[in-house]
Amino acid sequence: MKLTVTLLALVLQVFSLENGLMRTPPMGWLAWERYRCNINCKEDPDNCISEQLFMNMADRLVEDGWRDLGYTYINIDDCWMMPERDEDGILVADPERFPHGIKYLADYVHSRGLKLGIYEDLGNKTCMGYPGSTLDKVVLDAQTFASWEVDMLKLDGCYSSPEDRAQGYPSMSKALNATGRPIAYSCSWPAYDGGLPPEVNYTLLMDICNLWRNYDDIQDSWQSVLTIVDWFTKHQEVLQPMAGPGHWNDPDMLLIGNYGLSFEQAKSQMALWTIFAAPLFMSTDLRTMSAQNMDILQNKLMIEINQDPLGVQGRRILKTQDAIEVYVRPLSRKASAIVFFSRRTDMPYRYHTTLRSLSFTDSLLYEAQDVYTENIISGLTADTNFTVVINPSGVVMWYLYPISGLENPLASKTFLRL
Ligand code: GLA
Repeated sequence: MKLTVTLLALVLQVFSLENGLMRTPPMGWLAWERYRCNINCKEDPDNCISEQLFMNMADRLVEDGWRDLGYTYINIDDCWMMPERDEDGILVADPERFPHGIKYLADYVHSRGLKLGIYEDLGNKTCMGYPGSTLDKVVLDAQTFASWEVDMLKLDGCYSSPEDRAQGYPSMSKALNATGRPIAYSCSWPAYDGGLPPEVNYTLLMDICNLWRNYDDIQDSWQSVLTIVDWFTKHQEVLQPMAGPGHWNDPDMLLIGNYGLSFEQAKSQMALWTIFAAPLFMSTDLRTMSAQNMDILQNKLMIEINQDPLGVQGRRILKTQDAIEVYVRPLSRKASAIVFFSRRTDMPYRYHTTLRSLSFTDSLLYEAQDVYTENIISGLTADTNFTVVINPSGVVMWYLYPISGLENPLASKTFLRL
């Protein structure tokens, strides 16, 4: 029996992307949503895609406490390259905007205890028209990224055919592994093939990618967040089982700190992304972030829930006629995260319910901590009536844990005193 298990483990290791990376959803900063393809360093030196921007953000990640909370990736997106490869076919960073090259930036980022991500596109061109990684260039580009000591690659899919993608995404996975450097691999493949089976083979993706973009790009608006949440929820039966340690669904970047979300909506995006076990990539100006937004993004219990070692993605479990939705994510130590989400546009809504109506049927005594207010709600059984007051386009989020029936009830107490 033991031998069979060991053999099975070995076989699984051989056939899956066991680069050992991203056992919990990755966290960090990614340039695209906020900085796009701003290459105008003459007029806008502080906000153009340049070595300076990434070094500034790396400094903020370290000095403002982000790194120590887990936000360790700093990721370049499109528009870092020269318009052409060099005479040996190697990609070149724009020498005006990245005067010291990518290796230098990687060294800097590593010296600050962070990791560097880079962007390429499996096609003739990147989405913004820079040189793509055509099939004949996949191995060379993987080697180039490894030689620069990059830690993560986002491989986009503009200007590629379904056939290119079917060949190229697995080839890049192999090529990255073959470099011997652990490089996390983010695949935009599903987003270019409609995001759903049969066009998308999630079983294969789980084996070759650490995370994947399933759906459209996020934009700086609440409407965009809602469209993404609705799509993920509509297809949760398909998507939820695909997430787990080492392989995650990616609903795209966090908008918090930018222009499109109210305070309530910012809290909602953070809570819902955490329920979705989503990567937490901020894309915002860390130099000017408000204390309120920082509180949302640096909420320790929220991060602890997002990073729960079970790595189970949550689901929407109900939607009422009053436009209230409830999402639940199972966590380790028999705990759960619950998000009560209001789609209403009138006023704070008093939602009356019981744990039993939210599918908690065990005869246990529970306690909950409100993730944003830190209030403790104690003495909850499956049938206790309770009320949460949910603001329009806002959430109430609970960390719920049984206080009887646990082997070591003190464990959850320690967890709460973060
Ligand atoms: C696509 C991706 C975005 C971003 C841009 C860059 O639209 O989905 O996340 O990388 O390309 O051009």
